[in-house]
Amino acid sequence: MAFQLNEIVPWGRSFDEYVAMFSLSESDLGRRILGCGDGPASFNAVLTRRGGRAVSVDPLYAFSPAAIRHRIDRTFATVLRETRNNKDEFIWENIRSVDELGRVRMAAMNDFLADFPQGKSAGRYVPEAMPALSFADASFDLALCSHLLFLYSEQLDLDFHIRAITELCRLSPEVRVFPLLQLGTVPSPHVPPVCEHFRGLGYTVDQVQVPYRFQRGADRMLRITGQP
Ligand SMILES: C[S@@+](CC[C@H](N)C(=O)[O-])C[C@H]1O[C@@H](n2cnc3c(N)ncnc32)[C@H](O)[C@@H]1O
Repeated sequence: MAFQLNEIVPWGRSFDEYVAMFSLSESDLGRRILGCGDGPASFNAVLTRRGGRAVSVDPLYAFSPAAIRHRIDRTFATVLRETRNNKDEFIWENIRSVDELGRVRMAAMNDFLADFPQGKSAGRYVPEAMPALSFADASFDLALCSHLLFLYSEQLDLDFHIRAITELCRLSPEVRVFPLLQLGTVPSPHVPPVCEHFRGLGYTVDQVQVPYRFQRGADRMLRITGQP
């Protein structure tokens, strides 16, 4: 059976993975960045240390650090088990084994947990959920969404995807979403109608090759620009 999760889990990738997934240049990293569904990823923590400006939004941030740690620990075993049972769905080059995956992910999530209390006080971790966010129009220069939209196509329907991306386009002139596959390395059925919807409104919608390689076949992001 293919890689499966019943719910959207808190699972965090590293700064370097974000850079590769979204082909982020040094100039991109200098922009005001919104990370939507960042969960326990270390992108915000590391970018902040580098002097960058990131705000992360996730309903997870309503919980205490101890409760988030507990949810991460519960998720950890499930995700590693699913990965071990479906090893062929992944490319074991940058990360060479399931054990190494566990170490890399846990290091990123520990980095997030160490930064979370001060980041939340500073307004960098905001406990809100798409598709309705409280920021003013054009509060950001670049909105990123990793491993939420498209990946969870079974849990989140097309209408949710369109409303969520509409909201990201309200907040930022450029939106990037990765990956375009759902769990189990199946192309998300929502990608074609989402592209058609936003092109129909006059946006420029591109599927852009990125250097990130892990989930087999997941090597492109969606980029939406050119607000009509
Ligand atoms: C698999 S994790 C991905 C975390 C991070 N983006 C990464 O790639 O490492 C998915 C995250 O989406 C969050 N999430 C679920 N529903 C959401 C919503 N409606 N709006 C924003 N985030 C949501 C979950 O809480 C979870 O932290």
